[in-house]
Formats: sequence, C-alpha cells, structure tokens
Amino acid sequence: MEKLRIQGGRPLHGHIPISGAKNASLPMLAAALLTAEPVRVSNVPRLRDVHTMLAVLQSLGASAAFCGDNEVLVRSNSINNLKAPYELVKTMRASFLVLGPLLARFQFVEVSLPGGCAIGTRPIDQHLKALSALGATIELKEGYVTAQIDGRLRGSLIDMDIATVTGTQNALMAATLADGESTIVNAAREPEIVALANMLIDMGADIKGAGTDVIHVAGKESLHGCTATLMPDRIEAGTFLIAGAATRGCITINGGCHDLLDAPIAKLRQSGAEVSFDGDYIQIDTHGKQPQAVDIRTATYPGIPTDLQAQFLALNCVARGTSRVTETIFENRFMHVPELARLGASIESDGTTATIRGVPQLHGANIMATDLRASSCLVIGGLVAEGETIVDRVYHLDRGYEHIEAKLTAVGADIHRFNEQ
Ligand code: EPZ
Repeated sequence: MEKLRIQGGRPLHGHIPISGAKNASLPMLAAALLTAEPVRVSNVPRLRDVHTMLAVLQSLGASAAFCGDNEVLVRSNSINNLKAPYELVKTMRASFLVLGPLLARFQFVEVSLPGGCAIGTRPIDQHLKALSALGATIELKEGYVTAQIDGRLRGSLIDMDIATVTGTQNALMAATLADGESTIVNAAREPEIVALANMLIDMGADIKGAGTDVIHVAGKESLHGCTATLMPDRIEAGTFLIAGAATRGCITINGGCHDLLDAPIAKLRQSGAEVSFDGDYIQIDTHGKQPQAVDIRTATYPGIPTDLQAQFLALNCVARGTSRVTETIFENRFMHVPELARLGASIESDGTTATIRGVPQLHGANIMATDLRASSCLVIGGLVAEGETIVDRVYHLDRGYEHIEAKLTAVGADIHRFNEQ
C-alpha cells in the first residue's frame, strides 16, 4: 500500500501550477459518446478517475486514450456495448455520466447503480427523474439501471428537486439530442456545468442559461466532434491556497480561476492572509502569521464548495480562536475529523457541524485517508504538524491531485511516497 511520509512544520513558499479540472473532465469525456466523430480534450490531468472514465468508454467500444501528455482523444464511432459494468462503476460514481449520452444517442443504456461511497448514500433519483421526463422508461433490476425509449427522447420540462451537479450534467447531455425544447429547472450552477455546456455548444448543441438555475436546450438530431480545453481545477487551486495559509507561507498558483473562487478567497482573507491577483496568477501571503479561525458553511456554487470543507477544517485546527464548520451537502463528510485529532487537533463534531478550537501546534502521527478530499486535508495536517506524519491509503489522493508530491516539494515541503505492506 502506498503511503506518504511528511516532515512538517515548514512554511510553503513558491509557485504551484494548477492542472485541468477533474470534475469538468469526467462529464466532457462522457459527452464524446454523443457523436461518432472524434473529440479531443486538452489540459486533461493524469488522474485515477480520468483513467477509470477512459476504461469505461473503452468497455463500451469507444477508442479513448491519452494521445499526448495531457491530451485525450475519444472516438465513439464503434460503440458495441451499451452496458456500463459494475466492476468499473463501483470504483468511480461519475461513470454514471455515460447514462444520458448513451440513452440519447442509442435509445438504450444499462448502467450499474453507482452505490454509495464514504461521504454519503449518493442517490441518483434525480438523474432518473430527468431521463423519465424526457420520455425514457426506467427499470431497476439486479443492481442495474436500464433506460430505453422508442425513437428519440422528447424535449420536456425537467424540474430537479435538488440542484445536483452530475444530475444536471446527465440531463443536459440527454436533452441535446432530444426532439424539441427542454428546460432544466433548479439546475446546478457549478462552473463545471458551464464548461460542459460550452463543449456541447461547440459540438453543435443549442444551449442557453448554463451556470444559472434554468437551462434551455433545443434538441438536435446529431452532434459533431470538437476540440476542447479543460478549465483549471478550482478545487485543486483552493486546496493549495489553503495549504499556503495553514503553513503560514506565501505561494503563487496559476490557472486563471480566481473568479471561480470568490467565496473561498474571501474566507482566506478573513483568516488574515493577503490574497492578490495578477492575470492568470493568485498569490496568498500570510506574512508568517498564524491564521485567524474562520466559520465555514458549505453550499452549492457560488458558496464555499463542499470539496474544500475538509481543507478549511484543517486550517482551523491551527488557527487562532474557535470556529464552526457546517457541511450542508453530504451527510457523512467528517471522516477526516478523528484523523486530525490524532495529530493533536481539538475538534468536536455532531455529524453536521464540527467545532474546532485552534491549537498553536499539531504533532506528527500515523493517519489514514478515507476519501479524496479528506486525503488532501490530512496532507495539509501533515504539512503543519511538527515531526513526521505518515498518511496511509494515498490512492484516494491520486483520484484528484496530479503530481501532488512534486508540486508540494517544489514549494519547500518535505514529502515522499513509499510502499509499505
Ligand atoms: C459532484 O458530485 C462532484 N463530483 C463532487 O466532487 C462534489 O462534491 C459534488 O458534485 C457537490 O459539489 C463530480 O463532479 C464528479 P451532487 P455529485 O449530485 O454530482 C444529493 C470530489 O471530491 N442527490 O451535486 O454526485 C446528494 O446526495 C467529488 O471531486 C440526490 O439526492 O453531487 C447530495 O446530498 C466528491 N439525488 C446532493 O444532492 C440525486 O439524484 C449534491 O450531490 C443526486 C444527488
């Protein structure tokens, strides 16, 4: 099992490049199923989740692979299987994003139910509601969802009960090939939905309103190929900015996504850090001072993303004062709390809200990652803790952070990966 060894207590100083956005790449790669023509996506990070999505596309008969350092080419002109297997879907829930495109293009699809994960039950009822609204017949049998329709999907009102990110993406992709107009109400507004919509428009789709809670789609009979460039990963960017604040350092990141990080940057400024922009760059400078504790309440975009909750909680562990972190999106997203306590953090959690009393110092220990964003929070914990921290199960980290040791080493961290049975 791969682990990370971190000698903490060193402020981070220097420049960190931000990779392409994992949560934009997955729906955009799935969208390639909507056309028989080639789709190229550049700035794609080499992450476990991206490799899993490529494997899912290959299992359907598409050719899908990296054709350059960070460029992916997908050709869906030879789809010969409309069943996404449990073995792959269980390793990555986002595989469920093939549902909408396959149904829209082939009028039939069978996808394994994704099941829950560490952070929650992760239901998919809204995805199915959207496809039913477009005229599909949905059946749940033996752990699989089967969706089918005679002829094209039919444009319709899709009224989402919850603003679900991938639910909106499945609905949007399906509606692009439906017969007639569709309106998605209570759509999620995340930037990754805008990125998907822009790619679909480049493929010939007629979409208006992406990024708001009402999206209009005029269905087309077919879409053509395109070449897209992935937006920067705002969650990776936020993670490193928080790491700079927690270690009392000064780091610069580039990726041009500061306009997507208004809420997290406001919180970092509230913690006492100086955050400045220069074109494509964001700099955070703590001037070596201990951060001030900040209350956090996660929300859908443009609020504080749930994917930065754990990282902010780690910052509060070594901040001045007491803070409260409230998770409003997922029901079990505090598994990093007991691990941070092993480093000496003082945290009480009732499952929805954690109360953190900042301490001047954490101390290294053996800790274990439980999910993707918790793992980055534990790395931040190790970076600020005096002494040696060993983070176990770093395969979680590799799902969403490209070259994380190299990026952190370049700004002064003492962090190494090793294998231990
Ligand atoms: C996306 O997951 C992201 N994943 C998650 O990032 C992110 O945490 C989440 O959005 C929220 O921003 C990808 O984009 C691949 P949701 P998603 O559907 O779409 C409930 C990471 O760390 N819900 O917006 O699965 C659900 O239970 C990952 O990169 C239903 O009730 O999240 C949750 O409470 C983790 N029924 C809320 O909606 C449904 O049909 C939001 O979930 C769908 C969702």
